[in-house]
Amino acid sequence: MGLKNKLKLAIFISGRGSNMLSIMDACNEPNFPAEISVVLSNNPEAAGIISASNAGIASEIVNHKEHDSRESFESEIQRKLKKHDVDLIVLAGFMRILTPEFIEQWPDKIINIHPSLLPEYKGLNTHERAINDGKSEAGCTVHFASAELDSGEIILQRKVPIKNGDTPQTLAARVLEQEHVAYPLAIKLLASSL
Ligand code: GRF
Repeated sequence: MGLKNKLKLAIFISGRGSNMLSIMDACNEPNFPAEISVVLSNNPEAAGIISASNAGIASEIVNHKEHDSRESFESEIQRKLKKHDVDLIVLAGFMRILTPEFIEQWPDKIINIHPSLLPEYKGLNTHERAINDGKSEAGCTVHFASAELDSGEIILQRKVPIKNGDTPQTLAARVLEQEHVAYPLAIKLLASSL
């Protein structure tokens, strides 16, 4: 018997969708306290959209290129979200910045995963920057989204070593393995506190 009253997720993606897949796998466990209501992509060609459809999960595309302002793009996202039952928005490689106005409409209901140990290395090219700085540790952070990029309250982090000879690619792969553990864990944590 599975759990009733599961946390209903909207997963926002832009590309590959490997974090979405790890959450999907977790949601397939009967006792996992969340389920995916919809996967939304701004990119009609995101590989993750095909994976979601193949798994029978509802998906929506809101192509930012078809909107001449962020407001219009985000209104369309809100319209799509209204069609589905959504408790929590999970940003998983969603490559569009959401406006403070959008974030305020979902207070403490939007989470993001970032491939660094925040507050270090906000923004892009996190692995390259950590290697160039001679750091010995990297990792990932699940945090609440806030008006400022990569800056909301931290929910959890997982660390990995940076090894001699690491390239941004080898380090990214090591961190990604931990992302796939961290995101389901963070969602489970939130489900028990919401
Ligand atoms: C991940 O590294 C995530 O931390 C970052 O974007 C990447 C998305 O990868 N925000 P995927 O689409 O989940 O495979």
